[in-house]
Amino acid sequence: MSKLNEEITSRKTFAIISHPDAGKTTLTEKLLYFGGAIREAGSVKGKKNTKQATSDWMEIEKQRGISVTSSVMEFHYKDNHINILDTPGHEDFSEDTYRTLTAADSATMLIDAAKGVEAQTEKLFKVCSMRGIPIFTFINKMDREVRDPFELMEEMEEVLGIRSYPMNWPIGMGQNFYGIYDRHSKKVELFNGDNPSHVEEKQTTGPDDPILDEFVDPSFLAQFREEMELLDVAGDPYDEQKIMDGELTPVFFGSAVSNFGVQNFLEHFLHFAPSPVGRESDQGFVEPVQEKFSGFIFKVQANMNPKHRDRIAFLRITSGKYTQGMQVNHVRLNKSMKLAQPTQFLAQDRSIVQAAYAGDIIGLFDPGTFRIGDSLVEKGSFQFAEMPHFSPEHFAAISAKDAMKHKSFEKGLQQLTEEGAIQLFETYNRYPQQQIVGVVGELQFEVLEHRLKNEYKADIKLEHLPLSIARWVSGDANELEQFKKRQRNLTTDRDDKLVALFENEFQLNMSKDKYPNLNFHENSYFN
Ligand code: G4P
Repeated sequence: MSKLNEEITSRKTFAIISHPDAGKTTLTEKLLYFGGAIREAGSVKGKKNTKQATSDWMEIEKQRGISVTSSVMEFHYKDNHINILDTPGHEDFSEDTYRTLTAADSATMLIDAAKGVEAQTEKLFKVCSMRGIPIFTFINKMDREVRDPFELMEEMEEVLGIRSYPMNWPIGMGQNFYGIYDRHSKKVELFNGDNPSHVEEKQTTGPDDPILDEFVDPSFLAQFREEMELLDVAGDPYDEQKIMDGELTPVFFGSAVSNFGVQNFLEHFLHFAPSPVGRESDQGFVEPVQEKFSGFIFKVQANMNPKHRDRIAFLRITSGKYTQGMQVNHVRLNKSMKLAQPTQFLAQDRSIVQAAYAGDIIGLFDPGTFRIGDSLVEKGSFQFAEMPHFSPEHFAAISAKDAMKHKSFEKGLQQLTEEGAIQLFETYNRYPQQQIVGVVGELQFEVLEHRLKNEYKADIKLEHLPLSIARWVSGDANELEQFKKRQRNLTTDRDDKLVALFENEFQLNMSKDKYPNLNFHENSYFN
């Protein structure tokens, strides 16, 4: 295998999706710890409200004590080079999270075993499943009194529509959590509540092995054996292809905070998780192992370092190798440029990248040249598929308080739209034209106000609108004409695509009934 090939296939780039508080930060810390990337689990994110929280890049984050921005962390484990795309945990920042998922080749869905599938998990899952990437499930907090594992699996199927294959199975839970049984190796990892990170392993011949009687209380053991039988008879068969196609999710149980089950998960994950996958472009599929460097920007982040008002564009390398100072073609601008000083991220540190390969994420200093979705290619001028926009959930009419500041207001608005913090719509066929801002989470309005004031010296007026859904509309030309004449709350997005805004599902469904030959897309990614 060539060096390039070797480097690329050793990479795994994935995102963790979950609802706030499920334990994403905790799990990430443990993974980094295994990789030796941090010496002590706990240094990724400080406790809430402490000053040095890693991703407290923006002032507003500090004020709120929450993490607004996504970061990328890389670590090595055995022969693997792993990139974790961390996603903002707070509910308010989902569109950013959605987009980050386009840079991942697989996802790990983290579920709080006491709570099951929660709202944000469901939204993020939808995006992953739209892309058909493999999804792994870690069911966390087994050291607590939690829900029945079968019930959780059923819920995953009902709510998310995905079937599951438990790779391991818990013996007991909470006060009586004995450990996990690995269905493939038939090893039991025993949980020691007093010293959870000390894991004792027992090789068994199967669930019926008498060796288990030595460690597990008879009633819990009986239940475990019954459950294993049920799984073998009624559970889904193991099917690697379905896992790769995102139709079956391998499920792991554990307790991230106790560092229990995490290594078991990591080992299996690395076995299954795909190496960097290519991407569609307007000139065909781009394979990762092709010599020539190419990549796309999936996120633009302002003010990562408040001392320098710089912006960083995050680029996912799709193919080939990046070398320091290389010359690339910025396809949208049709301009040749030198990629100077990209950074790679490890927890708190930014370090200059010497070389990076397909699958890696690099951060480029951005003087204002990059937009989400931009393609950079070493040779040729192909564009990667467009980056989708997702339906915002909150809308407000926006204008500058001071007409004199109109110019900087417009500039700031455009900038923030390009970063993807907000979506900007313009009323369609209505005069005077009104600008409408859409955000996935309401807190973004505050971010918007704060940044326009601080960075662009523009005070804004926001008039909240009673709307909650955006749909990109396409379909039959005649119906579309009727729709354009009659429908209220029509807008166009930045690419001049028609977007209809609705107050609620009921209103949306009325329009769907009335215009059966129109399509109402949940995101802008359709053709
Ligand atoms: P998030 O990033 O998904 O929002 O979750 P985070 O890791 O911050 O974890 C949320 C809370 O859940 C934390 O408690 C954390 O310690 C706890 N937790 C994570 N994994 C487990 C687990 O396996 N078992 C149990 N019992 N708890 C777990 P906290 O009290 O909110 O914060 P902290 O004071 O512990 O930092």
